[in-house]
Amino acid sequence: MLKQTVDYAFQASSCVSLQPKSKLHPESLKRVKENKNGHCTKVMRSVNMENLTSVYLFPEISRREYEHSQRYPNAKIIKLGIGDTSEPIPECIASAMAKQALALSTVEGYSGYGDEQGNKALRKRIAEKFYKNMGIKGEEVFVSDGAQCDISRLQMLLGSHVTVAVQDPSFPAYIDSSVIFGRARNLQGQNGKYDRIVYMKCTPNNDFFPDLSNTPRTDIIFFCSPNNPTGTAASAAQLRRLVDFATANGSIIVYDSSYAAYISDGSPTSIYQIPGAKQVAIEISSFSKFAGFTGVRLGWTVVPEELSYSNGFPIIKDYDRIVCTCFNGASNIVQAGGLACLSDEGFQAVSRVVNYYKENANILAEAFRGLGMVVYGGQNAPYLWVHFPGSSSWELFADILEKTHIVTIPGRGFGPGGESYIRVSSFGHRETILEASERLTSLRKLNFN
Ligand code: MLT
Repeated sequence: MLKQTVDYAFQASSCVSLQPKSKLHPESLKRVKENKNGHCTKVMRSVNMENLTSVYLFPEISRREYEHSQRYPNAKIIKLGIGDTSEPIPECIASAMAKQALALSTVEGYSGYGDEQGNKALRKRIAEKFYKNMGIKGEEVFVSDGAQCDISRLQMLLGSHVTVAVQDPSFPAYIDSSVIFGRARNLQGQNGKYDRIVYMKCTPNNDFFPDLSNTPRTDIIFFCSPNNPTGTAASAAQLRRLVDFATANGSIIVYDSSYAAYISDGSPTSIYQIPGAKQVAIEISSFSKFAGFTGVRLGWTVVPEELSYSNGFPIIKDYDRIVCTCFNGASNIVQAGGLACLSDEGFQAVSRVVNYYKENANILAEAFRGLGMVVYGGQNAPYLWVHFPGSSSWELFADILEKTHIVTIPGRGFGPGGESYIRVSSFGHRETILEASERLTSLRKLNFN
């Protein structure tokens, strides 16, 4: 790898994302001191917030990207970091939203609050389209403003007493929201792990599927497939093992299928394809990466009626209670867009965009392979998981940004198991992806590998 100035400040401040603020940030201590000169309330800071790392991964990436743009004002920065969709929403879907918005300006078309759980027609359509022959009913589908918000609503539902396992690496919201809800204890400085969270290591050696024979029982298991960040989809046999493990342990799987639309190798698109899963799993999903709704905001959570607590009480009743208390339902305009996505025309149109991103992934994968790197993901997900054995992922991130003006995400940001990897998003216009590929290829001349 090229020797170059590494952004060590990043190491310190990013480890912001690895260490609680109070331990790592003299700045934060200074602010506390300064506040003593002014007015302070008598309210103590939540110990859970004290325990949380100070910066969430994605805003930190945006901050570094901004800093880079200030240092190189003439550089054309290519953003392959945060997984944000780039292609326009198909016209038939945007028109459905526009029509719904205009209807609000008429007496006949105006509507106020809708059902907190979502428009009945949309709930039914989601059940039919994504859970055909899986026995999921519209009443078990809760429409929302996105999977990320649902993760926190589920955390609220489950309470702070439960124990949690996550894939390592994993989408950072599972761990961070667990910390906020008081499930984690101290962050262990050496290995970057919270000591009440079980990290299920996922590497090429175990086909990115955890060794369940070595995994202690927890109440909750967060599981994302296709996985963000590794881009790998669990097979039916692997999910069978997961469901059996949860059943034997009396655990609940919170299954994130936000990237299911990207599956192209026949892997299951839902946990409910596995018989018995309805007794042990909640599924969250999203229109964001499937229909370009990252800004529009629409998702859903399935809570099967069969799923119950240890005392037999149906969890769906409590989830309904949480949703009614904490959420007033997704925007009626956006839900009209969701219905349009699930029409034949809309579904074909969004599928074309998904394929476009997968072609982007192929182009980028070839570029990294040309550098001699081993590349995972891309086939069933819009993310590549690129291995640089022995390297620090934060240094790699800084190296690549410095030399190519391409933003990626350091694997370490997704947990200790992400060290020596970077995640590369395939969202972007084709010309930008081709330019990124060229820039990466030119690194060979710089002896990058
Ligand atoms: C990502 O993994 O890049 C996310 O989807 C971005 C986010 O949720 O903010």
